[in-house]
Amino acid sequence: MSLRPILLHPDPRLKRVADPVQAVTSEVRQLAADMLETMYEAPGIGLAAPQVGVGLRLLVMDCAKREDAPPRPMVLINPEIVWSSEATRSYEEGCLSIPEHYAEIVRPAEVRVRWTGLDGAEAETHFAGLWATCVQHEIDHLNGRLFIDYLTPLRRQLITRKMQKLKRELARA
Ligand code: NI
Repeated sequence: MSLRPILLHPDPRLKRVADPVQAVTSEVRQLAADMLETMYEAPGIGLAAPQVGVGLRLLVMDCAKREDAPPRPMVLINPEIVWSSEATRSYEEGCLSIPEHYAEIVRPAEVRVRWTGLDGAEAETHFAGLWATCVQHEIDHLNGRLFIDYLTPLRRQLITRKMQKLKRELARA
């Protein structure tokens, strides 16, 4: 396994619609393993392939947050939301591609997601709570959408300008 660099907003690769994974190859398994390691190291609770510069519909997450809870890594290939609750949930979201910026985002409180596992088998999972928020945030990444896209244009521009400044500073360092 190896860590992969996480792309920082703004980056055109974060705005593209990712392509479906055609087959679970050893390359795809390697990508998933690297992404999990990168996510835990960051640390974060979710990471989508476009964030490491790979335009494929694959995401990893682990929202087992309590310190005494055992890790629960999930790898979702070609995930698709097949049902969303009318009830909503507001959560202060962040993103590894937009470090140190957070905003309350309102999303359906529960979703049902159809996905393919690393074993190639199809599964369907009902997500609630933080898992539901996280899986929707990560699926958005596969569609080139960031959480700041839910904010007003003014607030989005403010964050984008700060990120551009941060990237210039990092490039100089
Ligand atoms: Ni994100």
